[in-house]
Amino acid sequence: MTTRLTVLATGGTIAGIAGSAIAHDYRAGEIGIEDYLERVGGLGLAAELSGTQIANIDSADIGPDVWHPLHAAALAALDDAGCQGVIVTHGTDTLEETAFLLDLTLPATKPVVVVGAMRPADAVGYDGLRNFANAVRVASDPQAAGRGVLVVMGDRVFAARDVHKVRTRGTEAFRGFPRESVGLVTPASLEWFGAPWRSDSGAAFTLPDSLPEVAILYVHAGFDGVSVHRQFAPETRGIVVAGVGEGNMAEHARSALVELAVQGIPVVRASRLDEGLVDREPEDEANGFVAARALNPQKARILLQMLLADGTNDPAAIQRAFDGR
Ligand code: SIN
Repeated sequence: MTTRLTVLATGGTIAGIAGSAIAHDYRAGEIGIEDYLERVGGLGLAAELSGTQIANIDSADIGPDVWHPLHAAALAALDDAGCQGVIVTHGTDTLEETAFLLDLTLPATKPVVVVGAMRPADAVGYDGLRNFANAVRVASDPQAAGRGVLVVMGDRVFAARDVHKVRTRGTEAFRGFPRESVGLVTPASLEWFGAPWRSDSGAAFTLPDSLPEVAILYVHAGFDGVSVHRQFAPETRGIVVAGVGEGNMAEHARSALVELAVQGIPVVRASRLDEGLVDREPEDEANGFVAARALNPQKARILLQMLLADGTNDPAAIQRAFDGR
């Protein structure tokens, strides 16, 4: 039986053009999905692909305006008995955020794979074709179901929750934390490290019509209580602190955040480090703070937005969600 996959295209470097094989500058989101599918048609991929253009933009411009139609199209594809899996093409800069948002809001019943490229389509050494062929390999494998949304970059398969972009250049730009990767893939082979981990078939959250405002406060030397108040807007419903080390901050900043937590603004402590595991400390209870665990600030923000939209405001309940319980 032919495997049928739906490709939802949003732009990025995977669809980018430089106009020269060696130029540094290029335009992301230039190749339309029909053109792209024609280009990959020559690879002899073992799947029938149908494409939909959701957007064709640089992923720095991606946010709720794109997430809503993308999510709706992914849900429709998952509901379609004739579709075995979904591939989302995306710019790499915010790929981890879109992947995590979809992970929280889609069922894990069929494979959903997000893929990008670090070099534009006409560059020497374009990685997009290989990454795309790898994504087809993963999305065609029934074993990819039950693992939530997956990200395929540089011959590796990452879980959406773990993956983050760590380099501005080069094709090995993504890493996973705390799980480095969950599989290895080439266009011809796929090896999983372990069994599927999502036993729930439903989505953890319904994607709300609008996402509450959550600010990320980036801690640095000299960041104090004044810095906190300067960055706190009246519409802010929650705060993620990109703290130093294990989600730390200066005492004056901490006191200012405790004041906000007392007023009912949830405060999540994450780390500004690449591999920042932030565990709960004894003072978190008294401060009314939440520990982000292994989620980086930008993903902690998305989870907090989902929880707030769902009516979860209590720090203990928010902590349970960050603990994965
Ligand atoms: C983007 O994120 O859209 C541009 C950068 C990239 O895709 O690598």
